[in-house]
Amino acid sequence: MDSITKFLKSKNSSISENSTLKSSFSGTAAGVGAIPLVGAIDITAKLDNVIEDVIDRSKILVTGCSGFIGFHVAKYLLEQGFSVVGIDNMNKYYSKQLKESRTKLLNRHKNFKFYEEDICNYGFLTKLAKKHEFRDIIHLAAQPGVRYSIENPFEYERSNVQGHLNILELCRNIKNFNKLVYASSSSVYGNNKKLPFSTQDRTDEPISLYAATKKSNEMMSYTYAHLYGINAIGLRFFTVYGSYGRPDMAPFKFTKNIFEEKPIDVYNMGNMKRDFTYINDIVYGVMGALKSNFIGHKVYNLGNSKAEDLKEFIRVIEECVGKKAIINYQPMQPGDVEETFADISDAKQDLGFIPAIDIYTGIPLFVDWYKEYYLAK
Ligand SMILES: NC(=O)c1ccc[n+]([C@@H]2O[C@H](COP(=O)([O-])OP(=O)(O)OC[C@H]3O[C@@H](n4cnc5c(N)ncnc54)[C@H](O)[C@@H]3O)[C@@H](O)[C@H]2O)c1
Repeated sequence: MDSITKFLKSKNSSISENSTLKSSFSGTAAGVGAIPLVGAIDITAKLDNVIEDVIDRSKILVTGCSGFIGFHVAKYLLEQGFSVVGIDNMNKYYSKQLKESRTKLLNRHKNFKFYEEDICNYGFLTKLAKKHEFRDIIHLAAQPGVRYSIENPFEYERSNVQGHLNILELCRNIKNFNKLVYASSSSVYGNNKKLPFSTQDRTDEPISLYAATKKSNEMMSYTYAHLYGINAIGLRFFTVYGSYGRPDMAPFKFTKNIFEEKPIDVYNMGNMKRDFTYINDIVYGVMGALKSNFIGHKVYNLGNSKAEDLKEFIRVIEECVGKKAIINYQPMQPGDVEETFADISDAKQDLGFIPAIDIYTGIPLFVDWYKEYYLAK
């Protein structure tokens, strides 16, 4: 019995063990296979509705395509018949092997062309644009992580600020450029006390350098929209998790250590709340942004719009893994925030973004992928 079935059975759900949904994320690799049917959620139909109106299925540049979100976005686009040009510098911030696995899966598609390059190499970007003539860019390459930005500030300035400027300049110089969709972050809200976080709230007090670079991306994009008419949508992602997820993030670290019976570090004595968002929902939001015919620059929150208690999140992982966590409570970390919670009313209205996967569905999916990818070998 897989974790999702086991978990839902324990919640007295009527799900049958064999019921599966052919997902838009179907593929042959571990974890990207059919997503189990849970209740009435039909992820495939929703995603297909979003994308069918995008008439121009020409080439799209996806930066950071070997990263967690970039991989899922590129994979979805390829499965929908788009041609994708992917760029990633395959940096060693976390397991290169995981980035290679993702890239290998993308390389199975004949409409995918991968370049191992740095977005800070502007000369290369212009050659790429000339060769492939893409008119849309989904920019997801960046140096992520709040804690790492305290020890490695220069990498954040390089990849996130200079890199973003390069992408904006590229947009400016592409003939008939259509749309830039880029990653911002919930971290721009800093210690915002007003909940849920609204795009109307002030975001001029970031509490980590990572957050400051993301905020600067939004401001630079606004300037380019104003000066040069570059249509750009910034997406403030809220703690994304799911298959092929990032090993530096809590959902992955908790799952790994619980399986390995090692302690997990839980900050602020566990008194934290996070708006955990499943990767499928994020892909769906990115597609909504790509499709939107909004002119100018705008930012949206992409979150599940539920602030989950971290302790409950851990409890669900424990249940799926079938082991108890050994918890090592720690004080609050510099740059971290106590709670994130997205107001998604704008994204719902303009992008048709309605997240469908809560932690009781998403965690079992993630744990199943983890088992298949790391433990079945
Ligand atoms: N995952 C989340 O919860 C989350 C939350 C908020 C914002 N974001 C943002 O979403 C985007 C994607 O995040 P992710 O979770 O997929 O991270 P990721 O680290 O898995 O993916 C980023 C990819 O970009 C590549 N990259 C980094 N610097 C580069 C450079 N200079 N040139 C070329 N490639 C480069 C990396 O090798 C990596 O594969 C990032 O901008 C991140 O800041 C993510």
